[in-house]
Amino acid sequence: MPGKTYYVTTPIYYVNADPHLGHAYTTIMCDILRRYYDLLGYDTYFLTGTDEYGQNIMRVAQQSNRDVKEMVDANSAKFRALWPQLNITNDDFIRTTEERHSRVVQAILQRTYDNGDIYMAEYGGNYCVRCERFYTDKETEQKPGFCPIHETELEHIKEKNYFFRLSKYQDWLRERIESDRQFLAPNQFRNEVLALLRDPLDDLCISRPVERLHWGIPLPFDDKFVTYVWYDALVNYMSALGYPDDEKFQKYWPETTHMIAKDILRQHAVYWPCFLKAAEIPTFKRLRVHGWWTVEGKKMSKSLGNVIDPVEEANKWGLDVFRYFVAREMTFGSDGDYSAKSLVARNNAELADDLGNLLSRVTAMVGKYCEGALPALSEPTDADQTLLRGLNDLIDALPGHLENCTIHSFLAKVNQVVTLTNRYITEQAPWAKFKAGETDRVGTILAVASQMLIGAGHLLYPVMPERMAELLEAFGLGQPESLENTAPPAGNKIQPAKPLFPQLEYIEPTLEAPESQAAPVKPEIAFEDFAKVDLRIATVLEAEPVPKTDKLLRLTIDLGMEKRQIVAGIAQFYKAEEMIGRQIVVVANLAPRKLRGLESKGMLLAGRDGETAILLGPGGDLPAGSEVS
Ligand code: MSP
Repeated sequence: MPGKTYYVTTPIYYVNADPHLGHAYTTIMCDILRRYYDLLGYDTYFLTGTDEYGQNIMRVAQQSNRDVKEMVDANSAKFRALWPQLNITNDDFIRTTEERHSRVVQAILQRTYDNGDIYMAEYGGNYCVRCERFYTDKETEQKPGFCPIHETELEHIKEKNYFFRLSKYQDWLRERIESDRQFLAPNQFRNEVLALLRDPLDDLCISRPVERLHWGIPLPFDDKFVTYVWYDALVNYMSALGYPDDEKFQKYWPETTHMIAKDILRQHAVYWPCFLKAAEIPTFKRLRVHGWWTVEGKKMSKSLGNVIDPVEEANKWGLDVFRYFVAREMTFGSDGDYSAKSLVARNNAELADDLGNLLSRVTAMVGKYCEGALPALSEPTDADQTLLRGLNDLIDALPGHLENCTIHSFLAKVNQVVTLTNRYITEQAPWAKFKAGETDRVGTILAVASQMLIGAGHLLYPVMPERMAELLEAFGLGQPESLENTAPPAGNKIQPAKPLFPQLEYIEPTLEAPESQAAPVKPEIAFEDFAKVDLRIATVLEAEPVPKTDKLLRLTIDLGMEKRQIVAGIAQFYKAEEMIGRQIVVVANLAPRKLRGLESKGMLLAGRDGETAILLGPGGDLPAGSEVS
């Protein structure tokens, strides 16, 4: 029986910009998928690479006065060098300027031409160089003459070119998408493409005259033209497998998953299947489409200076924390927002408090109560079995999540199971049972908890390979190779684990880095959004500096209905004793967070100018808890 195979691809990235968070996300997601399929016993193959031809690349090289070949070599090398730093396990890295690629592009073009699906015609239209495509009047009716994506002026181009008979394949494509739910997902993108296919498709211009652009692959049947960059680029997925004769192509092509973001949906969901069909090549198996990352609510762009460098983030927070965060934070298919604040919050809650804490508790107790050896599991109770079943349910749920790339919700489920295990330990209280002399029961509780941890270590390994290898090592286990029977034999020596996920700290940049100039006003928000913020008057009851930082004060405040602790970054501006008895304004419904290990339930308000900060207060006596509106 042939083995199960799985082939996953990223888009090949343009080499006119440096790699950033968006590229890293898609590639990390593919890496996670391939690692999960490896654990499920599949024979996997993972491809990424760079897209190096086309008018846009040519133009960027000219604008920066660089030789185009020198530029693409240098920038492709940046992508290639990035991936190992993010622990990406791609098997191959394809460049469209390689001979192994152009050979296949030409072979497929020739076959399509011979079949009669490529013809020459004269065409005039509005072209966007950055999108590398013509736009119809209908598509630009909002602002005629301008690209709807880049908002730059379109170029009117009239010339003879070769066209691909896209229109001929419209009905076939609709049927292909409609008859196979797994072909294109998530559903919103499937619907989007089906809606697009309700209007007639135009044939697609697939060449550029050499006199306008020489930076491309020559058409095999007319060397006065080069191939349109998107036709060329899409073929990479096959040329890298050594189409047509290489065994890799036979083995992996039928099990292809393409991962892309929504910006290149049309090219992958419409052009690519039709190019393949016309060349009599079976279509890929799955197309998976994710949304866009914004950064602190704004589009990521060079001009805003907010482009996220993945290596910088990995160095700052830890590579595995970064990988976990991006995979967990973005609901697959929807847009996601990247912010240091949410990364710190997820790390502190899900990784440090839940998983890391569970590992420390369990390994410490095995040391204390079981002489450091993994105890045997005897006579499991209902509670033990229910917990263990949760782990098996996760393993059963995994293939469905992989099929749909819903890694974010799978990770949420793993986190839930870890939380339940922490609760189980608290409820089972092995320390009390140990005192009462119930040593067998203590052993079973810790054996169950260890199995849960080891299971979680396996299930999180594809996302956080380094930290999970450490977790498993604490149980005397090596790198996981499969998900079958993850439990180690009783008696394995257990090492007390060092904290796997230290708490991270996020300090509001407003008080951390004072600027002397008035900051620009933030984008407008709706009244309803403002109304969600619950501002209250509070009285400071106690105040003391937080050790090991000169920035923070720990305050106990009276909010009328309750007393609570907040940690505020104002130690550089106010002494602790100056705070006591003072009335301040606080955001009372802010999600709690930890600063230096102390929980802060709310945030006080202060006005800032340059190096000073002044607390806001009511300007007259008001009862604690009064609303500010
Ligand atoms: N070269 C083409 C793809 C050809 S594939 C046959 C291209 N390159 S690109 O460099 O622009 O990469 C686009 C891809 O990068 C997106 O589809 C996505 O995978 C990733 N991302 C780039 N910016 C992104 C975000 N802001 N958010 C999420 N991913 C994005 O298009």
